[in-house]
Amino acid sequence: MSDKKRPLRSEAWFGTADKNGFMYRSWMKNQGFPGHMFDGRPVIGICNTWSELTPCNAHFRRIADKVRQGILEAGGFPVEFPVFSNGESNLRPTAMLTRNLASMDVEESLRGNPVDGVVLLVGCDKTTPALLMGAASCDLPTIVVSGGPMLNGKHKGRDIGSGTAVWQLSEQVKAGRISIHDFMSAEADMSRSAGTCNTMGTASTMASIAESLGTSLPHNAAIPAVDSRRYVLAQLSGNRIVDMVNEDLRLSKILTREAFENAIRVTAAIGGSTNAVVHLKAIAGRIGVDLSMEDWTRIGRGTPTIVDLQPSGRFLMEEFYYAGGLPAVLRRLGEANRLPHPNALTANGKTLWENVQDAPLYNDEVIRPLDSPLCEDGGICVLRGNLAPRGAVLKPSAATPELMKHRGRAVVFDNFDHYKARINDPELEVDANSVLVMRNCGPKGYPGMAEVGNMGLPAKLLEQGITDMVRISDARMSGTAYGTVVLHVAPEAADGGPLAAVREGDWIELDCESGRLHLDVSETELAERMKDIRPGTSRVLASDGGYLQLYIDHVLQADEGCDFDFLVGRRGAKVPSHSH
Ligand code: FES
Ligand code: MG
Repeated sequence: MSDKKRPLRSEAWFGTADKNGFMYRSWMKNQGFPGHMFDGRPVIGICNTWSELTPCNAHFRRIADKVRQGILEAGGFPVEFPVFSNGESNLRPTAMLTRNLASMDVEESLRGNPVDGVVLLVGCDKTTPALLMGAASCDLPTIVVSGGPMLNGKHKGRDIGSGTAVWQLSEQVKAGRISIHDFMSAEADMSRSAGTCNTMGTASTMASIAESLGTSLPHNAAIPAVDSRRYVLAQLSGNRIVDMVNEDLRLSKILTREAFENAIRVTAAIGGSTNAVVHLKAIAGRIGVDLSMEDWTRIGRGTPTIVDLQPSGRFLMEEFYYAGGLPAVLRRLGEANRLPHPNALTANGKTLWENVQDAPLYNDEVIRPLDSPLCEDGGICVLRGNLAPRGAVLKPSAATPELMKHRGRAVVFDNFDHYKARINDPELEVDANSVLVMRNCGPKGYPGMAEVGNMGLPAKLLEQGITDMVRISDARMSGTAYGTVVLHVAPEAADGGPLAAVREGDWIELDCESGRLHLDVSETELAERMKDIRPGTSRVLASDGGYLQLYIDHVLQADEGCDFDFLVGRRGAKVPSHSH
């Protein structure tokens, strides 16, 4: 048993010799827990997102067992509990719709239960922000264990990456270069082991962010899901959380402004997903750190992308781990004085720099030197202008450099269905210089803000060998996707944003260097057009009730992290009153 110096919150359940204590202990004992588990040792929640409908997290029972073993070994009392599992691949219309729901599940499960600290088992994209958001609102000692990426896909003798291969191969079908049969044959080849997407998509980005924020042990981001060392990390995290409770190392001591600045810099260096902008803002909002869109420009821009992973580059997460993983990236940044806050505290009680200062780096092609990067100016490009008064984003490392300064005429789609109906129409007036504009795909307009922003190109242009065009929308895109794609335009069209006022043939200017996104019509003309557009009129913003209505009524815009207005903030984990 631990030599604790202060009463743990679990004692308010298990620590009294009275009717209430009897009830709390007695029912727990039906699971076969011996009496000494209730002697005041730290009770550690294992917050599990296991689900067979979330294939990326389907191996989590075994991970949970290793965490449990670690907790027991360190003298804690492990209690595993499930929360809503956001599976990116199956959930429709998008797993983002339920990210906030899952975060509420986590927050209320933690606060209402006899839990002193928690291990968050996360993997598939939205599970990481959802669990961190809920835990941040409670502010208990917390450690993240990610499930790890899948092994490399292997198709016809070469490596293929999760998601990225789907976009590439489906464009090849449209361009007539491969058959639909060839395409289908890649299904099983792409996903051949447990784990999350093996590209630097949102799952790997968020796992890297969890590590750079200091919320996990070193190497959490990259160890493959099926590598035995993933299970060692799980067990060691179980060990460590017990000490974190004894040290009262709460999440707010780790999730400081400095930690978020480190994470923004790391996102640039790894060529991370644009979804990170939304998720990091939401997590920061829960713990009480004020991040702005400009922080991404100030801290991220100018940082070279040195991790050569798909979709921006060549390799996959397996190679990233074998090359040295995130600690090697952090060391490389730190040695060049490009880690903003090396002294930020991490979950193991050491600083970020102490953890990585001796980290080995085995492969300069996968983790490139700073002076020979994949992209000189990585990070997230934040754009503003009359088309996006509250901002929009673009990922330079996944874009075509020549298109990042562009002027073209708008081809406008009112929503995703409209886009699908028109894009392959041979009569559509579109050429390689056109700008594809899609609206009503933001948080409210396509509730959940689906990942449809990387609109596929018109078949007739693909046949001509065109591989990229400027695309603009209020949607998100998958972290595994690529292209010169302007996303997260805020405010969204369905919330009265000027995207609603764009007309077919309007000239649009994009300039990533100066961060400008401009609709070339006069102020008067734009104001005139906006008069006819009232928030909520461009798409039906009422549902049949239920969670969807709660979502539409309370979701914040992309620049605010798409959290619910009433969930922002740290509410702590004060023990609630008795239930009897
Ligand atoms: Fe789950 Fe990509 S779909 S991590
Ligand atoms: Mg994804």
